[in-house]
Amino acid sequence: MLAAGNGLSANVLNSFHLRVLLGTLCTRSRPLPQDPKALLCHCHGVNYATVQRVIDENSCVAIDQVTRICRAGGGCRSCHVEIYELIQASVARRNGFWKRLWHRIRN
Ligand code: FES
Repeated sequence: MLAAGNGLSANVLNSFHLRVLLGTLCTRSRPLPQDPKALLCHCHGVNYATVQRVIDENSCVAIDQVTRICRAGGGCRSCHVEIYELIQASVARRNGFWKRLWHRIRN
């Protein structure tokens, strides 16, 4: 898969990173489902709304945190890309909130 001597070893770029990278490339333009009740993690039967609520209420920044709270992502890991995208969107929203608040305080 990776050519020897290109500086990337199997230790640095493991299968999880590859799946997240490939999943991100393949799903970047794919919108999240309109129905929040749609299943995100089929292994544990957790829907998008639940994962979104867990991320927002607990300010999660890692997939492991989400898995510990609601078990999503604790099985086959094929849903990690979607969880990762929800985390990224939530972090962006939180950062935007704090930046707007800081801007209002300073001006
Ligand atoms: S679908 Fe989420 S861990 Fe398998």
